[in-house]
Amino acid sequence: MRLKDKVAIITGSASGIGEATAIKFAAEGAKVVVCDVNQAGVDQVVAALVAGGADAVGFVVDVTKTDTIVAMVAAVKEKYNRIDVLVNNAGITQDAQLFKMTDDQFDRVIDINLKGVYNCTKAVVDTMIAQNSGVILNASSVVGVYGNFGQTNYAASKFGVIGFVKTWAKELGKKGIRANAVCPGFVATPMVTAMPEKVLQGMEEKVPMRRLAQPSEIASVYAFLASDEASYINGAAIEVTGGLTL
Ligand code: NAI
Repeated sequence: MRLKDKVAIITGSASGIGEATAIKFAAEGAKVVVCDVNQAGVDQVVAALVAGGADAVGFVVDVTKTDTIVAMVAAVKEKYNRIDVLVNNAGITQDAQLFKMTDDQFDRVIDINLKGVYNCTKAVVDTMIAQNSGVILNASSVVGVYGNFGQTNYAASKFGVIGFVKTWAKELGKKGIRANAVCPGFVATPMVTAMPEKVLQGMEEKVPMRRLAQPSEIASVYAFLASDEASYINGAAIEVTGGLTL
């Protein structure tokens, strides 16, 4: 119960790593705020958490639409009167090599993966400053450290997230708020498993552990970073890759 009674907002938590993080946080005793653009997914995840005895609520939020974020934050404050953890997890890919990438593909990925992180963090930061405590966790990627073929937009967004984290660690550390990024390698979620079997096999062969990560293995890292056990980890970008980059 490392997160007992902590109020945690997890964006993009209707699926994949976000859903696994919601499940893990609930198991650790957190009050979980599930939010995503996918209404059916939000309803399903909240129903499962509540059925398991957790305190959980759901909101349909688009991280590019500040009115939806502000409405959620107001409702969470009304219900719980505090916000302890924000996990900026929502993200998409729109891959193409630079010479084929459209402006729309570029803008969409930056809007969700980078500006969306800014939008959500901006919406909670005053509350965290007033509490003199808070944890801001952010989905970067191994691609946000090393780049990747066909991912000009995605790599820029995930590098940018690390820039946020290092800046927020400096700005907010003295206010009792920690900011960190998690950089997963290949994780078995809809984002990845939709790829052709041959590409997936190629990914597995590159990893010394010869397998993709399970979403729960990334969720565990978020839970640790959200907990007081990580009380001196600030401004870090933690790679969780099974050794992919060695
Ligand atoms: P996923 O596709 O399973 O889940 C992403 C969730 O974000 C979905 O439920 C989707 O509806 C939601 N979402 C998309 N646009 C949104 C918006 N505008 N507002 C609110 N929610 C929105 O993806 P996955 O794999 O679980 O990824 C989660 C995060 O982890 C992403 O930021 C991704 O870039 C990052 N990541 C994933 C890796 C992987 O191998 N799966 C590797 C490294 C990072």
